[in-house]
Amino acid sequence: MIFRAAVLTISDRSSRGERPDGSGPILVEMLRSAGYDITHIAIIPDERPEIEDALKAIADERAADLILTTGGTGFSPRDVTPEATLAVCDRLAPGIPEAMRYASLQITSRAMLSRSQAGLRKQTLIVNLPGSPKAAKENLNAILPALSHGLEMLSGRPADCVNEQR
Ligand code: MTE
Repeated sequence: MIFRAAVLTISDRSSRGERPDGSGPILVEMLRSAGYDITHIAIIPDERPEIEDALKAIADERAADLILTTGGTGFSPRDVTPEATLAVCDRLAPGIPEAMRYASLQITSRAMLSRSQAGLRKQTLIVNLPGSPKAAKENLNAILPALSHGLEMLSGRPADCVNEQR
C-alpha cells in the first residue's frame, strides 16, 4: 500500500525566508525513500491558528495519510506546534512520541526537551518532530519502520499484527 504524506516545517524565520528550511527536505527524502507519495510541502510560522488550519485542511480533505511537522516543539515562548496538534486531534497516539524520546535519549539527554505529540484526526496521523535537521532525522528514523502498520489500520484495512517486523 502506498501512503501519502505531507511535510510541514514550522518556523518563523524560514517562513520569512531568513533561514533555509533544513529539516523539511530531509524528511521528504526519507519518506520518498520509504515509498511515500509527498502531497504537500509547506513552511508555516509559529502561529497556532495557522498551524491548526494547515493540519485541519489536509486531514479534512483526506489529502494525506500522514502529516509530519518539524519544529516548534521546544520550550521557546513561540514553540506551539504540540498545542496546535493536540487541539485538532480526535485521538492521541502517545506511543509514537514515547518511542521517539526513548530512541533519542540514547543519543542526547536534550531529547527530553522535545514536547512532540502525535495523534489522529479522522484518517490522518499527525506526528511532531523537532526542528533541527539532525533531530528531525533521528526522530523519524526511530518511528518510520512502524508507521506503515499504523497507517494501514487507520485506513480501515484489516492489518496483520502477527507478522511483526521489529
Ligand atoms: N532529538 C534527537 N534525536 N536529537 C537531537 O539533537 N534535540 C533536542 C530535542 N530532541 C534533539 C532531539 C533539543 S536540543 C530540543 S530543544 C528539542 O528537541 C526541541 O526541538 P525544537 O524546538 O526544534 O522542536
